[in-house]
Amino acid sequence: MELLKKRILEDGVVLNGNILKVDSFLNHQMDVALFNEFGKEFKRRFSDTKVTKILTIEASGIGIATIVAQHFDNVPVVFAKKMDDSKLGNNVYQSYVHSFTKNKDYFVRVSKDFINEGDQILIIDDFLANGCAAKGLIDIVRQANANPIGVGIVIEKGFQPGREVIESLDVKVESLAIIDRFDNNQVYFK
Ligand code: G4P
Ligand code: NA
Ligand code: NA
Repeated sequence: MELLKKRILEDGVVLNGNILKVDSFLNHQMDVALFNEFGKEFKRRFSDTKVTKILTIEASGIGIATIVAQHFDNVPVVFAKKMDDSKLGNNVYQSYVHSFTKNKDYFVRVSKDFINEGDQILIIDDFLANGCAAKGLIDIVRQANANPIGVGIVIEKGFQPGREVIESLDVKVESLAIIDRFDNNQVYFK
C-alpha cells in the first residue's frame, strides 16, 4: 500500500536497528483517515470470504480493528487480553504466547461468549514479527471451532519468521507494507 509506505518513510523512526517506531500515526497517536484506508484495502484483499467477526489483541490492534470493521459491515470486534498468569476462570479460551521483542511469556485470553462455533474470523494486528501473537489468536479461534479466514497486518517485518508461522497453520496473510530490511536506520520495503 503506497500511501502507508510513504508515511512510514516520512514519519517512521528505526530504533536500535530493529524496531520501527510509528507512534505518530499508528501506535500512540492514530491517524483515523489512514486507518480507513487500511480498512478499504483489507476489504479488497479479503473480499472472497465472508467475515462475521474481527479478532485483535490489546493494545495497539484495537484502534485499527475498530476502524477496519466499519469496512466489513460493522462486524463486532473482539480483542484478546494479555495476562501474566493462567488464573483465568473457566469461561475462556487461552493460548500461551512468547514475545521475542519483549522477551517474556504471557497468555492471551478471550471469553467463550464472544467467539462462536462457525464464526468466520479475520485477525487484525499492527505488526507481524515472529508471529507468536497471531499464532496464539489462531489457536483460540480453532479452540472455538470457528474459522480463521485470514490475518491482516499493517506492517510486516519480512525478515522475521511470522509469515511462515501463520502460513504453516494454513491461514492466509495479507500485509499492507512488508519491510525487507533496515539498513543504517533506513527502511527498505520488499
Ligand atoms: P510477534 O507477536 O510477531 O511474535 O512479535 P513479538 O512478540 O516479537 O512482538 C512483541 C510486540 O512488539 C508486539 O506488540 C508487536 O506488535 C511489537 N513489535 C514487534 N516489532 C515491532 C516494531 O518493529 N515496531 C513496533 N512499533 N512494534 C513492534 P505488543 O507487545 O503485542 O503490544 P502492543 O503494542 O500492541 O500493546
Ligand atoms: Na505493538
Ligand atoms: Na501488536
